[in-house]
Amino acid sequence: MSASGAEVGASGVFISFEGIDGSGKSTQARRLADRLRAEGRTVRLTREPGGSPGAEEIRALVLEGASDRWSPETEILLFTAARRDHLERVIAPALAAGEVVICDRYADSTRMYQGLARPDLRDLVDTLHRLMIGREPDLTVLIDMDPATGLERALGRGGGEARFEGMGLAWQEKMRAGFLDLSRDAPDRFLVIDGARDPDTVADEVAPRVRDHLP
Ligand code: ADP
Ligand code: TYD
Repeated sequence: MSASGAEVGASGVFISFEGIDGSGKSTQARRLADRLRAEGRTVRLTREPGGSPGAEEIRALVLEGASDRWSPETEILLFTAARRDHLERVIAPALAAGEVVICDRYADSTRMYQGLARPDLRDLVDTLHRLMIGREPDLTVLIDMDPATGLERALGRGGGEARFEGMGLAWQEKMRAGFLDLSRDAPDRFLVIDGARDPDTVADEVAPRVRDHLP
């Protein structure tokens, strides 16, 4: 694979799920994968940061430990390194084999979590993406919801990966607005789904809207 991954994946379909912490991305990504598999499609369900053995090791480095463990610049490099490994070893081969790849978070999360937190670093995020990743999803499902509910859900879930979830409600409000801005900038790529409903209702809306975009 060349420096840019843009040429890969002509035959499969690449779908990402995005949204604030606790919005229900993982739940909905799993449900969509189950439905598409039940319809006979080959689905690769994966996540970021992580999704390949090397990238999962980087995940532990970026999500565990003190919030000032890495400088913002180093953190962008780590997320990009993890994504590059994931793209090379998992996403690109699955797409080349004609599979549906469903990824829980992808590059929009870096644009938001790293780029919105430090607007002066957004160019760096975009430049690294262009140089080292170069592949957008074909479709991005944005699970949109009120941050207070999302934060409650995310904190209720517990676990040791709290570096970003500890950042509070004002931060989540900013994230939500940022994700909605991204969706307006790329309306052909984004499906915006109201996540503040029970999981079955959300899944019942996601599946047909995604299916409209599948071959
Ligand atoms: P995310 O991946 O966006 O952080 P998850 O899918 O992990 O979100 O969901 C976060 C928590 O909220 C989990 O405990 C999950 O069971 C619960 N949850 C997910 N979707 C819903 C929903 N639509 N309504 C209520 N609770 C939900
Ligand atoms: P994730 O496990 O998806 O968290 P959640 O289920 O709570 O949404 O992602 C872990 C954290 O990593 C999340 O707070 C967002 C953050 N993150 C970034 O900061 N940059 C990135 O590029 C990615 C992919 C995730």
